[in-house]
Amino acid sequence: MGRPEPRVDGRLKVTGNARYASDFPVANPAHACLVTSAIAKGRIVSFDLDDARAVPGVLDILTHETVGNEVHEPKFFGSGGTASTIHRPLSSAQISHAGQIVAIVVADTYEAAREAAYRVRVTYEEEDAATTLDSDGVETLPATKVRKEHKNPRVGDAAAALRAAPVTIDAVYETPTQHHNAIELYATTCVWSGEQLTVYEPSQFVHALKHAMAEQLGIDAEDVRVISPYVGGAFGSKAAVTPRTALVAIAARRLNRPVKLVATRAQGFTIATYRAETRHRVRLGAQRDGKLTAYVHEGWEATSRLDDYLVGGTETTAHIYDVPNVSTRVNVVRTDRATPGFMRSPPEVPYVFALETALDELAEALDMDPIELRRINDTRNDPITGAPYTSRSLMACYDEASRAFGWRRRNLPPGSMRDGDWLVGWGCATAVYPTFMGAATARVRLARNGATRVEIAAHDLGTGAYTAIAQTAAERLGLPVAAVEVLLGDSALPAAPVAGGSNTTASCCNVVAKACDGIRRRLVRAAMRADRGPLRGRKPSSVNFVDRHIPGEDGAKVSLADAFDMLGAPMIEEYAHWLPHGMEPDALKKLHLGSAALTGGAMEDRIAAAFGAELVELRVNVYTGELRVPRIVGAFAAGRIVNPRTAHSQYVGGMIWGIASALHEQTELDRRVARYVNTDLAEYLIPVNADVPDVQAILVSEEDRLVNPLGIKGLGELANVGTAAALGNALYHATGRRIRKLPLRIEDVL
Ligand code: MOS
Repeated sequence: MGRPEPRVDGRLKVTGNARYASDFPVANPAHACLVTSAIAKGRIVSFDLDDARAVPGVLDILTHETVGNEVHEPKFFGSGGTASTIHRPLSSAQISHAGQIVAIVVADTYEAAREAAYRVRVTYEEEDAATTLDSDGVETLPATKVRKEHKNPRVGDAAAALRAAPVTIDAVYETPTQHHNAIELYATTCVWSGEQLTVYEPSQFVHALKHAMAEQLGIDAEDVRVISPYVGGAFGSKAAVTPRTALVAIAARRLNRPVKLVATRAQGFTIATYRAETRHRVRLGAQRDGKLTAYVHEGWEATSRLDDYLVGGTETTAHIYDVPNVSTRVNVVRTDRATPGFMRSPPEVPYVFALETALDELAEALDMDPIELRRINDTRNDPITGAPYTSRSLMACYDEASRAFGWRRRNLPPGSMRDGDWLVGWGCATAVYPTFMGAATARVRLARNGATRVEIAAHDLGTGAYTAIAQTAAERLGLPVAAVEVLLGDSALPAAPVAGGSNTTASCCNVVAKACDGIRRRLVRAAMRADRGPLRGRKPSSVNFVDRHIPGEDGAKVSLADAFDMLGAPMIEEYAHWLPHGMEPDALKKLHLGSAALTGGAMEDRIAAAFGAELVELRVNVYTGELRVPRIVGAFAAGRIVNPRTAHSQYVGGMIWGIASALHEQTELDRRVARYVNTDLAEYLIPVNADVPDVQAILVSEEDRLVNPLGIKGLGELANVGTAAALGNALYHATGRRIRKLPLRIEDVL
C-alpha cells in the first residue's frame, strides 16, 4: 500500500477555486441554449422563429436549414473513432430520438437565449417510435452481426453438460435504463482565435475531443486545444464526443465571438449517453457437490438504430469461475432512442447481476452456503483459454468480508430471521473488473531545488488522479508530495489514454515512473562519474531516491542539489512513453490520433482482473414492504494500492452506487412515445445518507508482479459490480421471494 495522502486538489475544490470547464472566463461570451425534439421519430416540417428572434439580445438561431453539412460525419467510438454517435443533429430534418438537438439559440445573455429557445416553434411530422426491448418495430440482431470483432466466449459443450447436470437453474433477469447524472452539467465553451479553436469542456479524453473537432469541422488537429483540468463527475458520459461540441464551435465561428453552452439537467438525459436496459437468460448446470459443469448466458441490450453500440458483458462473466462448458451469446435490440454509452462498469453491472443472482439460486437449490459455492468454483486460470490470472484474491476477499460481517451466523433458511416488524436477509455477490491499461506518454521536469512538474494529458474525474500521479513522482524522486506539481486535462500536454475502463492509475503511474527513472539515471550517472563525492565510482543501490538524496551502497548518499551540480545543469526534463503488455506497437501512434484502445482483461497469454466480495444486510418491513440496507461490507483486492485513502473512497462510492442500482435508479420510459419521464434529480432516485448508514470497505493486500511494472490494477469501477445481486440475494434470504428485475421495489415484496 502507498501512503493515504489527502487529495492534492482537495483545498481548491472545497474552496470553489478549482476551475471546471464552464468556470473559465472568456472575453465577451455569447450564450447558447438548446431546443430539443418533442418527438422521437419523424421529421421537422417547419420552424416558426419570429417570436424567438424578437427577444432582445438574440444573435443567431442555428437549425438544419442553416447548418446542414457544415459538420462532417463523425466516426463512432465503437468502431475506432471518437464520437458517441454518428448522428448529426442540425444536418437534416430527420428526427432519430426524443430530445435530440433541433435548434440552438445564441444570445447576449443566458436568460435571453433561454427565453428565445422556449419561443422556438417546431412543426413535426411524427411516426411511431419503438421504445424498448419488447416494443413493436424493434430490430433484434446478434452482436456478431452488428460488430464484426465481437466474440461470444464459449468452451466445451454447454448444451450436453446442461442436459447431464443433476442440478440446473434457468432464469431471466432484467436491468433498467439509467443515466449518469454527474453533478457537473454538459458544458461547452468554444473560442476561436483566427484558425485556432480552444474548447473548454469536461472530458474523459481530451486528445479524442481534439481530433473529433478536427474531423467534424474539417480543420487541422494542431489548431485545436481542449482544456479540461477538473471534471465534476463523468462515469463514462464524458468519454466519447457528443454532437453538441461541433455545433457550439460552429455557432462561435459564425458570430466570431466565444460561445458558451451549459445544457440543462433535463437536456443531459438526451444529448449525451446513458446505460441502456438489458435482459438475460442464464442457465447453470452443477453437480450435487456444487461444482459447476455448464454456464449458458444469452443477453439482450437496447441500442439505437444508427450506431453499433453494445457492451457484451459475457466477455467478463465467462472468465471468472471454473466452468468447463460455457456458451454465451449477446444480441442488440435496435430502438428509436439515442445511442447508449458507457456508464460505470458498463458490461459488468448488468451481466454480473444476472450471473451472481443465478449462482445464489443455485446455492439455494443445492442447500449450500453461497460463499462456499464460489469457493468450490474458484480458479487460478481463465476457464475459456486456460491462461493464468496475473493474480487473483477473490476468496481472500470473501474471507475478510465474512469475518467483518459475521457471516458465520447466517446459515438459516430464507424468511427465518426477523427483528420486530422487519424481515432480515443477508446476501453476497462477487465484484469483478478487468484490469485495463493503455499506451501513455508523460513529461517530468525536476529542478535542483526539488521542484517537480509532471505533465500528462490524463484526467481527474474526482477520483484522485492528480494525487496518485503526484505520489508516484514523489516516491520515485525522494520528494514530498507537495514538491510535485501535476498538470492534467489539456490536449497540449503529452497524450494519455481515455479516463475509462479504470485504466488511469495503472497507465499513468507506470509512464510517470518511467520518466522519473530517466531523470534518476542521469543524476546517478553524474554522481558516479564526478571526480569526487560519496558515489564516485560506486553503484547506486537500486531503490528509490530517499529524502532528497540518491542512496548508494553501504549507506553512502549524495543530495539532489549536489548531483545537479555534478551534472552541471539546473534542471532535467524527461519524456517517456509506455506500452502495456499485449498492446500493439502502433498503439502510441493511435493514441496521438485520439484512439481509446486499451488492453487487458482476458488476453491471449494471461488474464488480469481485480476482484472483491460484497456482503449486505437488507431489511424488509413486514407491513409496508419498505426496503432498508443497514449495512454493507466489501473487501477488494486490486494489486498495489497507490493511495489507500482515494481507493477507499472509490470503493465506498462504488458500493453506494451499487445500492442505488439495486433499489433506486431507473430512468422511466413513456413506452408510447419513447420519451424519458423523470429527467431531473428530484425524481431520479439516488441514495442519500439515511439510505446508506454503514458502508465498510476493506482493502485486501495483493501483490501482482506480472500485470504491469508497478503492479497496479484499476479499481474505480470495481465496487459497484455485484452489489445489486448481493441485495437481491439478501431480499430472497429475508423473504423467500426472488426478484429478478431491477430496481427492487416495495411493490415487488408486498
Ligand atoms: Mo468508465 S464507464 O469506463 O468511463
